[in-house]
Amino acid sequence: MKDLLRTIPRLLCIAFLVLLSLPVMAQQNDVPPADAPYKNASLPVEERVDDLLQRMTLAEKIGQMTQVEKNSIKLTDIDGLFIGSLLSGGGGYPSKNNAEAWAKMTDTFQEQALKTRLAIPLIYGADGVHGHNNLRGAVIFPHHIGMGATRNPELVQKACAVTAQEMAATGVFWDFGPVVAVPQDIRWGRTYEAYSENTDLVSELGAACVKGLQGDKLEVLATAKHYIGDGGTGWGTSTTDTYMLDQGVTQGDEANLRAKFLPPYKAAIDAGAMSVMVSFSSFGGMKMSAQKYLTTDVLKGELGFKGFVVSDWKAIDQISGDYYKDVVTSFNAGMDMNMVPYDYINFITTITKAVEAGDIPMERIDDAVRRILRVKLMMGLFEHPLSNQADLASVGSDEHRAVARQAVSESLVLLKNDNDVLPLKKDIPRIYVAGSAGNDIGIQSGGWTIEWQGSAGAITQGTTLFDAIKNMVGSSTEIKFDRFGRFRNDKDASGNLLRAEVGIVVVGEQPYAEGKGDAVDLSLTEADQNAIKNVRERVDKLIVIVISGRPMILGEALDQADAVVAAWLPGTEGEGVADNLFGDHPFTGKLPYTWPRSMDQLPFDFSKLPTEGDAAPLFPFGYGLITG
Ligand code: BGC
Ligand code: BGC
Repeated sequence: MKDLLRTIPRLLCIAFLVLLSLPVMAQQNDVPPADAPYKNASLPVEERVDDLLQRMTLAEKIGQMTQVEKNSIKLTDIDGLFIGSLLSGGGGYPSKNNAEAWAKMTDTFQEQALKTRLAIPLIYGADGVHGHNNLRGAVIFPHHIGMGATRNPELVQKACAVTAQEMAATGVFWDFGPVVAVPQDIRWGRTYEAYSENTDLVSELGAACVKGLQGDKLEVLATAKHYIGDGGTGWGTSTTDTYMLDQGVTQGDEANLRAKFLPPYKAAIDAGAMSVMVSFSSFGGMKMSAQKYLTTDVLKGELGFKGFVVSDWKAIDQISGDYYKDVVTSFNAGMDMNMVPYDYINFITTITKAVEAGDIPMERIDDAVRRILRVKLMMGLFEHPLSNQADLASVGSDEHRAVARQAVSESLVLLKNDNDVLPLKKDIPRIYVAGSAGNDIGIQSGGWTIEWQGSAGAITQGTTLFDAIKNMVGSSTEIKFDRFGRFRNDKDASGNLLRAEVGIVVVGEQPYAEGKGDAVDLSLTEADQNAIKNVRERVDKLIVIVISGRPMILGEALDQADAVVAAWLPGTEGEGVADNLFGDHPFTGKLPYTWPRSMDQLPFDFSKLPTEGDAAPLFPFGYGLITG
């Protein structure tokens, strides 16, 4: 009897709870009315989120937390599994790689997402790290390293606004950028993706890019990445088999982590950044994707981040290798969305099990989904889910190219200029142009251009340095290009090899990106060194231009040349280089990274860097000659 008395209230209680949840359960299967609060753009975002969230089933919530690579998604799974996000990885483009095809592709995906009961739009993401760089014909800006040399936040903001416009025209409303890494070792293959080795400069320019991408109305979502410490890993600590620094272990203690790497996140968040990507790297013996303290306490707590956190590519899988455990660890640590990117069925099944088993609390799921929906609603995606086709004509437009051309000009760092050989006159009788990077759009654009690792060759529209120089000089100038600098057929009437007043040798690095760019040797290639030697013998004045993702070991080239220009990875607008060479625009760029004399100086110990003698760097941070 006593037992029964105790059981009855419990049964009543359960019955009460079931009754209470009946309307919700009914609601969860209904198509919501047209006047549902979440559909009302005039209501405050948080009110709309509340309304939408309480209508959602677990499956619908988990779908929002799932990001799938676009070639891996089955179209009907978008609505069937309520997928919240798709992406193009590096080299991810529609089979016909033009702006119209991109818009059609993203719209097709979006229309599929809008078929769901709640019609929550998906968000399509891509790495627009120097323009809408997977898209052939888009304007390609200098990589961040060059933008770092400009020291011009207004220009960075403008460049990112142009990038946003080109992305949004094709329905890509999420940019996985800016990179706000602070690389401490230029042997890292992602050095060029970052503005500088200097925390303050990265903070300033990263925030400027966030403002440019997102605008006043959060038109394109920016991502501060990769949280945190990706630029501070130690050589040989990579947890992959073939990389050296990339995906490695960040050195130093928490105080160092906070001082060097945290301020750019604070600046980006203060500038309104509403997504953050978690790094592949580790800290303190733990993968970043597993770090609850840094993600939940520091980022979401201390920094007050109200947006959502996305993983890097398949990064959650790296925590321990036991997928169930990894998903539980990562989402409990504060991950909000998984860049799966391939096996989404496995992810969805796994996280569903984890929630049902109580290993991931429902509050955590709700928090993640709330953050994602908040961003989608703030962006106006519900009202404008499809590509901004009216802007398609702006993709790669002259107006956009002009901004990139200015960025190129301002990014150039003049390292040497003996006897003021620069600027050049436009009526020089003969100019020889040579070097591996002298006439190649792919090389001057670098990694993350059309392909993940980039590629040499005519991979997109633009102006090579040679073409730009040729267009700049008058018709009286004879100008020739020979990659090797031999100009063997250039002879006078009696068969003697001719000489030119000016030689320009463009040397540099072949394109690379993550991992593959980790390098033990940053010397100029033998082919480039030979081109310099060959041209030196045939010209009065020699100018060497370095196209590279980081400072290189110049060796003898520094003495052989009358002038040396660091041009970084300028992108498609080679005219910006010609503008400075011929005095239409002054050289004003300043080194965003310290320039070494030799490989054995690397990595620099910035805490005790000598300023004089052989141990001093070749050129200090901030160096750069100015021309009038
Ligand atoms: C993708 C890149 C991605 C990389 C990660 C590549 O296949 O195209 O976007 O960053 O894999 O390993
Ligand atoms: C890179 C990220 C990139 C992602 C998607 C990863 O391999 O580390 O920077 O956003 O791929 O392409």
